[in-house]
Amino acid sequence: MDWLNASDGRIETNVPLADLTWFGLGGAAACVVHPRDEAHLSDLVRRASARNIPLRVLGGGANLLVCDAGVDGIVVRLTEPSFTAVEFDGTAATAGAGAELMRFVKDSVGRGLAGLEGLAGIPGTVGGAIRMNAGGRYGEIQSHVIEARVVLPSGQIETWSRERIGFGYRHSRLGGAIVVSARFQLTAEDPDTLRARFQEYWRAKKESQPLAAHSAGCIFRNPPGQMAGRLIDRAGLKGRSVGRARVSERHANFIVAEEGATATDVLRLVEEIRCAVREKFGIQLETEIEIWEPDRQTCPV
Ligand code: EPU
Repeated sequence: MDWLNASDGRIETNVPLADLTWFGLGGAAACVVHPRDEAHLSDLVRRASARNIPLRVLGGGANLLVCDAGVDGIVVRLTEPSFTAVEFDGTAATAGAGAELMRFVKDSVGRGLAGLEGLAGIPGTVGGAIRMNAGGRYGEIQSHVIEARVVLPSGQIETWSRERIGFGYRHSRLGGAIVVSARFQLTAEDPDTLRARFQEYWRAKKESQPLAAHSAGCIFRNPPGQMAGRLIDRAGLKGRSVGRARVSERHANFIVAEEGATATDVLRLVEEIRCAVREKFGIQLETEIEIWEPDRQTCPV
């Protein structure tokens, strides 16, 4: 990585990614870079693209499984203050991609600004939430996004409208574009009413999901007209385990990593669940989480 230099920002090598993900699993990143600001990120992305070096962005690590072999290339973290700032102006807000989603949601609620309270309890960063269109039964982030600033693989910086971002169910059409910040439109509401709603959503999530365990949230997307959690439950898979990875007893679409689990255990369990649900219901489950595999090797399953 001799093409990297001090002006790219803080550079770390051989960084264990398990410490940076909610699963707490997986190998190391060859190189992690914390760019100082948008201009440095743009320059870094341009040079990595020109050299065909894979570049991944690690947000809150909440929806991610890193394979045991880790990843080559560059992992970017948007941790510097220029990427984590949140500013409110009237009923609008601008949040950096590296800002913690829950902090942003709580700040909005505290100011009596409605719109994001349905995201109560969703971990991760604002950038990751936009890429995946984070949400659930109480709403999705897309409903309140006006536009996002993005860095393209060429290094070009653009502002994309909500329409161009192309939100879908746990999906966007951002592709290789990296979100650096986003602008939101919220609505003024009585703070007490709003706080009560936020707390109700938060409680519902805590009651139905194993939030204290090491997991990556829901593993599979809900197939059209179906609920993955219900299908896995009805296939009798709650409590099924491979190694130290186990299907949660509380919510069947969660895989919980117990002490000593490996990413390979999780991947094998994912395949077992897929096979069982396909055999019983004829439905093919697709993963919702992002899976990082090494670029030059293959994962062991
Ligand atoms: N169900 C079962 N057994 C289970 C789990 C669920 O029968 O073990 C049934 C429930 O009784 C309910 C149905 O399945 O009738 C749906 O369950 P739930 O209300 O928990 O919603 P979900 O579709 O499983 C979605 C999101 C969650 C989000 C919740 C609540 C997906 C894949 N999941 O879950 O998002 O928190 O709604 O808003 O869309 C995530 O994306 O990581 C995530 C956790």
